[in-house]
Amino acid sequence: MDLLPNKWISSLFICCFITGLSCNSVEKKIYVKLNYTVPCVRLLNATHQIGCQSSLSGDVGVLHVLESEDNLDWVLNTGHSPPYMVILEAELFTRSIMLKLKSGARRVAGVVVIEPNTNLPGGFSPHTTCPNENTGVYTDKYDPALAHCNHTLWNPLGNGLSYEEFDFPIFSLKDDNDTQVIRQCYLDHNRGVNGSAPEYPLCAMQLFSHMSAVTDTPTCIRRNKIQNDFSISPEMVCDPLGGSNIWTSTRPINNTQKGHKMFESVVIAAARLDSRSFFFDLAPGAQSSASGLIALLAAAQALKNITETEETQPNKTIVFTFFEGETFDYIGSSKMVYDMENEQFALDLDNVHSVLEVGQVGIRPSNSAIWFHSDPVSQRNDSVKAEILRSMFDNTENLNMSYPPGLTPEQQLSFVTETAAVAQLLYGFLVKSNNSWFQQIIPSDFVRSLVDRPTNFYTGVHMQKSEPSFLVEYILANLTGTVVNVTQENCKNQRENADDKESKHLYSYIWVQGALAPNSTKRDSFCVRSSVRLSPAISPAFDLEQLTTSDYSTWTESRWKKITGRIFLVASHDLEMLTLESASPSCSRLFFYLRDQLKGRYSVLLRERTH
Ligand SMILES: *[C@@H]1O[C@H](CO)[C@@H](O)[C@H](O)[C@H]1NC(C)=O
Ligand SMILES: *[C@@H]1O[C@H](CO)[C@@H](O)[C@H](O)[C@H]1NC(C)=O
Ligand SMILES: *[C@@H]1O[C@H](CO)[C@@H](O)[C@H](O)[C@H]1NC(C)=O
Ligand SMILES: *[C@@H]1O[C@H](CO)[C@@H](O)[C@H](O)[C@H]1NC(C)=O
Ligand SMILES: *[C@@H]1O[C@H](CO)[C@@H](O)[C@H](O)[C@H]1NC(C)=O
Ligand SMILES: *[C@@H]1O[C@H](CO)[C@@H](O)[C@H](O)[C@H]1NC(C)=O
Ligand SMILES: *[C@@H]1O[C@H](CO)[C@@H](O)[C@H](O)[C@H]1NC(C)=O
Ligand SMILES: *[C@@H]1O[C@H](CO)[C@@H](O)[C@H](O)[C@H]1NC(C)=O
Ligand SMILES: *[C@@H]1O[C@H](CO)[C@@H](O)[C@H](O)[C@H]1NC(C)=O
Ligand SMILES: *[C@@H]1O[C@H](CO)[C@@H](O)[C@H](O)[C@H]1NC(C)=O
Ligand SMILES: *[C@@H]1O[C@H](CO)[C@@H](O)[C@H](O)[C@H]1NC(C)=O
Ligand SMILES: *[C@@H]1O[C@H](CO)[C@@H](O)[C@H](O)[C@H]1NC(C)=O
Repeated sequence: MDLLPNKWISSLFICCFITGLSCNSVEKKIYVKLNYTVPCVRLLNATHQIGCQSSLSGDVGVLHVLESEDNLDWVLNTGHSPPYMVILEAELFTRSIMLKLKSGARRVAGVVVIEPNTNLPGGFSPHTTCPNENTGVYTDKYDPALAHCNHTLWNPLGNGLSYEEFDFPIFSLKDDNDTQVIRQCYLDHNRGVNGSAPEYPLCAMQLFSHMSAVTDTPTCIRRNKIQNDFSISPEMVCDPLGGSNIWTSTRPINNTQKGHKMFESVVIAAARLDSRSFFFDLAPGAQSSASGLIALLAAAQALKNITETEETQPNKTIVFTFFEGETFDYIGSSKMVYDMENEQFALDLDNVHSVLEVGQVGIRPSNSAIWFHSDPVSQRNDSVKAEILRSMFDNTENLNMSYPPGLTPEQQLSFVTETAAVAQLLYGFLVKSNNSWFQQIIPSDFVRSLVDRPTNFYTGVHMQKSEPSFLVEYILANLTGTVVNVTQENCKNQRENADDKESKHLYSYIWVQGALAPNSTKRDSFCVRSSVRLSPAISPAFDLEQLTTSDYSTWTESRWKKITGRIFLVASHDLEMLTLESASPSCSRLFFYLRDQLKGRYSVLLRERTH
């Protein structure tokens, strides 16, 4: 790759000089930079790399808006100006089209998928039909007849695209001004008149998404280690996927005392925090994870009164748990079990009576029911089956958002309130977290983490808290905790008063912003005491340094330096990109010609040759 940026810049300077424009303003006009791009990034496991990347200097292609699958022939065979940057409306983002583009990689510079503003009819899932096929409960060891989704295809719409490797960049763009500019540029320049081949200058796009990690997780972790050992400013190439699990219990559990085996037995009620999407940063996951975690939050709230009152308290403590990284071979839950086995968690495996997982739940504002899926294998044991059927949750109707018959108006009111809380949660996760309720329940340091868009359910990396884990931590504290009259200083020091040394083992304390005082910008802050705790969600494979194991998740995410895209006009096939090597008259003529073409809307790339 021999880039000639200096030559390029000097010719640009000369051109600027000739045209009498200030260089700054020209520079800004050179390209139209895309404002909102979401790339598909590279992920690695024990044996493979999947996802996408561009070359180091970005990949360039002539724009082609694909109109139908038949239209692929232009891209793959007949078009005169390859390579092409293929623009796909979401309906055309199918496995069949993507695999054809993948096999025609020589003529394909990259793909841009226009994210629809509404859901596609018929649904779409880039996950496999049998997610986490090899690491889930239903393995060959557990029951071969249920393994590999023989019995239940969990995700019938799954097309497996997220597990393919593409050696060109793939970006997603929101359908907005950026995409309008792209469509217009394509219409103006790249569509041949009356079926003839389009003529130069053509509208082109360049995408940058070069990935630092290659091959597989053992390779990238080895490179990290070498960097760490020998470099003064180490440049890591990949990070294990993961973050933090969030959990709380209906009775306080001593969190300092690990591996504790009291007589107590607990029921774990779990949901997952994350969902998977093809594109990094774009995992709205409304159905797949939001519904389950909202249902579990609502259940925790609904059971609060019952579990707080001595007479109505259930015999078993309920531990509400929200697992991170489940879509990537169960990172969060496998780590918690591993910690239980190794006396690194407040509970021991022997303390666990049973587990209830709240998966996808159809939540509608009224008249919707919650579905339970129970494990058919453990039900083969009659005593376990009887236990499941008795359903230790005799309050499951509380989860059902419809009005059960025979409620008094007061009871209906509390149901309305609970439904309202669910509506607020749906709003907070699926519309925007930056709302007045969420603002009240977080510490002031985290105000910037609230955003005006749907929550991104993509798993984080490296112990960083993902968006849903951050939100669930504080929502759970609000819904299950108690406001206590404790000073800010004591609250931040995890104690009720200066002499209190015990409470921190049982509770966590957070100083939250509270509501705005009337006619003021000041907030009435207060201290919330709860049993909400964080625990690490990093695959045990990294702890054990067993990076080729198939027992635990080995997924890592590559790091990258630059993710960006831009469009511009290319002058000719030979030059590829318009190259201004000298301040010759043709240079300025071309420059004026192109500037004329642009009419202030978009501009040209003045680019180095890359021989
Ligand atoms: C799949 O299930 C069917 C019956 O449900 C069984 O006959 C078949 O052997 C199973 N296949 C595998 C690979 O286990
Ligand atoms: C790694 O991912 C690839 C692609 O999904 C898959 O085929 C392979 O089985 C995975 N390897 C392990 C060890 O899980
Ligand atoms: C999109 O374009 C419209 C009309 O040209 C303009 O009013 C609006 O501000 C633009 N939005 C953004 C985010 O650039
Ligand atoms: C990107 O944002 C800038 C500044 O808001 C705006 O001037 C430009 O037109 C936007 N680009 C596109 C393609 O909408
Ligand atoms: C394209 O074809 C139509 C009808 O055949 C004709 O009227 C029109 O002039 C043609 N346009 C150009 C630019 O040749
Ligand atoms: C919790 O456990 C720690 C460590 O075993 C112990 O020091 C502390 O006294 C315990 N606190 C309570 C309230 O049980
Ligand atoms: C829960 O307890 C609160 C305060 O004690 C009370 O106001 C509310 O009505 C109770 N809700 C239900 C559903 O019992
Ligand atoms: C709870 O425990 C008490 C006393 O140990 C027992 O009488 C009662 O039946 C138990 N309740 C349930 C629901 O198991
Ligand atoms: C059924 O489960 C119970 C409780 O876990 C256990 O004690 C019993 O041995 C199991 N029975 C069989 C046949 O596995
Ligand atoms: C939960 O949030 C509401 C609304 O901001 C507030 O009124 C209530 O006191 C909070 N409760 C706790 C326990 O934080
Ligand atoms: C909170 O505690 C302070 C100091 O102990 C006391 O003066 C105040 O009355 C308490 N406030 C409430 C609402 O109980
Ligand atoms: C808030 O401001 C409005 C209008 O300025 C005034 O009518 C109202 O009394 C004020 N409320 C308080 C609590 O000060």
